[in-house]
Amino acid sequence: MRAVRFDEYGGPEVLTTVDADVPEPGPGQVAIDIAYAGVNFADLKARSEGYRVPSLPFVPGLEVSGRIRALGTGVTGLTVGQEVAALTEGGAYAEVAVADAVTVFPLPAGLTLRAAATLPTVLPTAYALLHSVGRLRAGESVLVQGAAGGVGTVAGQLARAAGAGAVYGVVSSAAKAEYARKYGYDEVVLADGFGSAVRELTGGRGVDLALDPVGGDTFRETLGTLAVFGRAVSFGNASSAPAWQVGQPELYPASLSVGGFSILNLAKTAPQELRALAERAFAVPGVELPVTGEFALSDAAEAHRVMGSRTSTGKLLLRVSSVAG
Ligand SMILES: NC(=O)c1ccc[n+]([C@@H]2O[C@H](COP(=O)([O-])OP(=O)(O)OC[C@H]3O[C@@H](n4cnc5c(N)ncnc54)[C@H](OP(=O)(O)O)[C@@H]3O)[C@@H](O)[C@H]2O)c1
Repeated sequence: MRAVRFDEYGGPEVLTTVDADVPEPGPGQVAIDIAYAGVNFADLKARSEGYRVPSLPFVPGLEVSGRIRALGTGVTGLTVGQEVAALTEGGAYAEVAVADAVTVFPLPAGLTLRAAATLPTVLPTAYALLHSVGRLRAGESVLVQGAAGGVGTVAGQLARAAGAGAVYGVVSSAAKAEYARKYGYDEVVLADGFGSAVRELTGGRGVDLALDPVGGDTFRETLGTLAVFGRAVSFGNASSAPAWQVGQPELYPASLSVGGFSILNLAKTAPQELRALAERAFAVPGVELPVTGEFALSDAAEAHRVMGSRTSTGKLLLRVSSVAG
């Protein structure tokens, strides 16, 4: 089968298309003939910094849609040929990938394989950030960094669906701000000076919940946007800054809380919890994540260039095989 892999860390050019062995499902796993693979920012971090790469060479890719090709021993409730969306532990930039059955989801009626590939990572993540960790209550205000990206586009819609009182976004360009306003955001501000902009928008009060995938100085500035009893949830380090630290001096004055979330760690440590929250997330009606760029599998490097240039909005997909139709 064809797969896209890297043999060393570096820029998009280290991604090459190779012939690889078709993977076989182990116990509790399924093999999937891939129609589409989603591109995630974590794939860029894997390629450039070795984020969650156990060894080289490595085939990146964390989410797919497609048809079940084979079932491993002990798998129940799924059938060969069934259309599914799935989270994978790498390996999705390929014609076939294996996934643990617990993170394989039959396609809801009416959902196309193309649309299904946009959601396995992003939708449960955004849902967990707002609900499982962020404990959002109706009427509260929310601030989301990276509001025009994959997680950001869905987080705006989910916050709105949960009855948030106000939903604010932070982005790096005016074009992204215009895009994000269509997906649940009341106001979208630019990253430069966002802390004071958010204070102004909230009449000095601050927000109840802030979601941060950037880390470093952005995370510290985010803490300054919180209202009394506010919560910040860290879920990424797009800035590649050293890991942040926070303690008593930052938290005591305004009774703040800080939480964290990683879907990849949850898939490892508590897969049934992940499945339960993914099922709740998929049940929220009307959430969409527009595909703003579709690339052939062999053009994965170009998809990485686009996402790495900070110009992408919504979701980028790789079209993998004829299963895509
Ligand atoms: N913890 C989890 O479980 C989990 C799951 C999924 C995703 N994530 C994280 O969530 C974030 C969004 O992921 P995604 O896949 O949906 O990607 P994405 O949002 O479509 O693209 C990456 C976003 O990161 C923002 N960004 C901020 N600083 C950046 C920098 N220095 N370089 C490049 N981009 C930067 C960009 O927004 P602006 O240009 O507007 O700043 C861009 O929209 C990533 O940080 C990812 O690692 C975490």
